Amino acid sequence: MFDQTHAHITTWVIAIILFFVAVGLHNAGKNKGMKIVHMVLRLFYLLIILTGSLLFWKHSGIDPALYGIKGLVGIWVIGMFEMLLVRMNKGKSTKIFWILLILSLVIVLYLGLSLPLGW
Ligand code: HEM
Repeated sequence: MFDQTHAHITTWVIAIILFFVAVGLHNAGKNKGMKIVHMVLRLFYLLIILTGSLLFWKHSGIDPALYGIKGLVGIWVIGMFEMLLVRMNKGKSTKIFWILLILSLVIVLYLGLSLPLGW
């Protein structure tokens, strides 16, 4: 948990899958199912932040600035998941948030993979 990134990777991979399941359910008009998946997804936000914070707490001394940015961009990704699902439910436009989600995901994957732990 502290020295390996497996737990962290597991939580964000599951969150990405849940996010797309929620989008699919919304598009299929299954709003009750979407609500349940959205609730579970929110639990995974907490697990991502918990596992990310444990890694941060133990290793950010290696490069505090880059680790700080990595954490912030990770939270930005979570914010975009949430904005998209909430705006979809309200029938508001989501285009800009899809662009921001892709941008934030590319940056967080790049930063995560270029930091020294894990791959
Ligand atoms: C959906 C959101 C997130 C995604 C997609 C993501 C993605 C990643 C990836 C790809 C890695 C590299 C794993 C490896 O090389 O084995 C990583 C590592 C890490 N993440 Fe995240 N992350 C997210 C959220 C967060 C948050 C919110 C935090 C902080 C609170 C955080 C802190 C860290 C730390 C400290 C590492 C270790 C960096 C290293 O030295 O390799 N992440 N993350």
